[in-house]
Amino acid sequence: MGLVTRVPLFSSPSSTFSPHKYSSTTKLFSSSSSSSLSFQRRTSVVVKAMASTVIVTGAGGRTGQIVYKKLKERDEFVARGLVRTEESKEKIGGADDVFVADIRDAESIVPAIQGVDALVILTSAVPKMKPGFDPTKGGRPEFFFEDGANPEQVDWIGQKNQIDAAKAAGVKQIVLVGSMGGTNLNHPLNSIGNGNILVWKRKAEQYLADSGIPYTIIRAGGLQDKDGGVRELVVGKDDELLETDIRTIARADVAEVCIQALLLEEAKFKALDLASKPEGTGEPTKDFKTLFSQISTRF
Ligand SMILES: NC(=O)c1ccc[n+]([C@@H]2O[C@H](COP(=O)([O-])OP(=O)(O)OC[C@H]3O[C@@H](n4cnc5c(N)ncnc54)[C@H](OP(=O)(O)O)[C@@H]3O)[C@@H](O)[C@H]2O)c1
Repeated sequence: MGLVTRVPLFSSPSSTFSPHKYSSTTKLFSSSSSSSLSFQRRTSVVVKAMASTVIVTGAGGRTGQIVYKKLKERDEFVARGLVRTEESKEKIGGADDVFVADIRDAESIVPAIQGVDALVILTSAVPKMKPGFDPTKGGRPEFFFEDGANPEQVDWIGQKNQIDAAKAAGVKQIVLVGSMGGTNLNHPLNSIGNGNILVWKRKAEQYLADSGIPYTIIRAGGLQDKDGGVRELVVGKDDELLETDIRTIARADVAEVCIQALLLEEAKFKALDLASKPEGTGEPTKDFKTLFSQISTRF
């Protein structure tokens, strides 16, 4: 573990995980310390000492990488990552706070989860394209899941293993990124590689909602590799957004919503669909408290 446990300065009298309390401490100190460099350094140590340890799984994935980076950038958190392979660990910088484990193997994830305050689940089965597809000839590519890595094994057993490990380790909050479309058994994503991916994801979401651990389930629309922070985010429930034109979202925005869910009470015990208006329409979202407050659905 990092600085957090080694620096006992100003340790919180309460064991309850509440990072927004810590961020107000940051403000308190920074407003009264502008001229003193050494005081600022001490302030930074104090803030880190009170920070919460958060692990993001799937930290080598496209959204997971962004969450890991954001956690490292913010004083409220001590970041950890979990990746499946040494290659993924190197890809995100190879730091000691990155654990290599396979979520299908319950034992393997236990060390990574020990001492963690919050867990962000960003693992997912990833379909592969069958070889031989030639885009110049038209038609559609076919996809498959590798043996042992289908949605039942990754999105159900793998997520369940993480939730069980978190519960056993006393983790106080879980943020899980899922997908819109889960209310429709006939959704086209379910037929990819005959994997029923949305069915297995939803089963894991239900398991989390029933776990008793404070949670936020973020069901994202179609993910895009675009800049975050420049669009108005829209939340919904029960896949209602899929009936509108608002059905996509930047991975960077999903990552920021994960971070905000860790910080704001209004996000707890909620499941929300998430998408964004096109850039240039609406106001870029800054007030996440209001965003989460618009939703009351628990599942
Ligand atoms: N694509 C979309 O349009 C879309 C839309 C809505 C929601 N979503 C969901 O949003 C989430 C994030 O998507 P993304 O595209 O950013 O993710 P991604 O890049 O596909 O990342 C998934 C991660 O899961 C890891 N993983 C898979 N099996 C694992 C295992 N057995 N043990 C440990 N790690 C394992 C992968 O590691 P390796 O790289 O080592 O395999 C990968 O880093 C996913 O749940 C996805 O289903 C996607």
